[in-house]
Amino acid sequence: MTATLEVGLAARRYPIRIGNGLLGDAQTWRAALRGTHALIVSDDNVAPLYAPQLRDALARAPGAPVHCETLVLPAGEAHKNLDAASKILDALAQLGATRDACVLALGGGVVGDIAGFAAACWMRGIDFIQFPTTLLAMVDSSVGGKTGVDHAAGKNLIGAFHQPRAVIADLDALATLPDRELRAGLAEVVKTACIGDADFFGWLETHADALLVRDTDALTHAIARCCRFKAGVVERDERETGERALLNFGHTFGHALETEAGYGTLLHGEAVAIGMLLAARLSTQLGMANAADAGRLHVLLERLALPTAMPAGTDADALLARMRLDKKNRAGTLRLVLWRGIGRTEIAERVDDRTVMDVLGKAGGR
Ligand SMILES: NC(=O)c1ccc[n+]([C@@H]2O[C@H](COP(=O)([O-])OP(=O)(O)OC[C@H]3O[C@@H](n4cnc5c(N)ncnc54)[C@H](O)[C@@H]3O)[C@@H](O)[C@H]2O)c1
Repeated sequence: MTATLEVGLAARRYPIRIGNGLLGDAQTWRAALRGTHALIVSDDNVAPLYAPQLRDALARAPGAPVHCETLVLPAGEAHKNLDAASKILDALAQLGATRDACVLALGGGVVGDIAGFAAACWMRGIDFIQFPTTLLAMVDSSVGGKTGVDHAAGKNLIGAFHQPRAVIADLDALATLPDRELRAGLAEVVKTACIGDADFFGWLETHADALLVRDTDALTHAIARCCRFKAGVVERDERETGERALLNFGHTFGHALETEAGYGTLLHGEAVAIGMLLAARLSTQLGMANAADAGRLHVLLERLALPTAMPAGTDADALLARMRLDKKNRAGTLRLVLWRGIGRTEIAERVDDRTVMDVLGKAGGR
């Protein structure tokens, strides 16, 4: 089962290819690449597994870049910083990369975000191709052109919008992905359903087991559905002036939890799972949604073996302080993505601190 979708942005439309055997397929790369210089950026878990095959495919692709180097970054969120981006810029300089050069991001969302950011900065923007190797990156981070790095003060505070030239999602790469990382990716899949696709939520309830055992058809269906949904949102609101913010359902709580726990302690998807439940409970508390929907979300997350409780001893005041730095906030007040039930999200303006603290308190925050 394969699928090809498109992100239909006027000047920069690009394909998303989903299937098996794409990494070693010279034709795939021939279609995606242009220019004579390419830098493969990966991390030290992924590079040994997949970089040799990619280099081999590039060597066989007619017209592919003749000058190709590989840069391997240390893996993990703790390394998603300006230092890593700077290493990529140094490598591009060393390669002699001009405006027609291309960065190939081979890895999960961390590599994709940093490599895309460096590509956005080098000579004010060169091509980059996303080759996502985690489920999270296939269903979410590789699509839509948000690139960036973390700052000690918060997640993704430094960044740029820069659309990739292509997204190539090869399901074969998921074979080596640890179970915990697979489940973290499923959190973003659930998020898509929560935001705007109640039917998909029902589909997830019936296919949770198939996804957990990595059934190819179920995974392809879920990836394609998430990418199609996200592509539609990005086409309508590339720069997040409105609707795109809804993709952050659960993320204001999630980012704060992830930062507060220390980057790398809670995986991004795990923090989002807890964050979605907190947002759902807050929506219930504000009378926007009924408790039964939050209950269904809780059950689905548990079935997917995702965390549903904040880490013991989470400092609620510290969490709220971190939430204040969220990019969606305006004029010092909290703006949160809340829901009216499964499949219907909206932005809530000026959410009252006390209600948030109440929900955090009930969730075990001290
Ligand atoms: N740009 C966006 O729109 C967007 C959207 C959602 C999330 N994100 C970002 O994505 C990041 C999370 O991405 P992630 O969950 O992919 O994390 P990640 O990139 O850290 O990958 C998770 C771990 O799995 C390893 N790995 C990756 N692919 C593997 C494979 N095929 N086999 C074995 N190991 C593999 C990595 O080395 C890493 O240790 C966060 O920084 C988050 O902020 C960005």
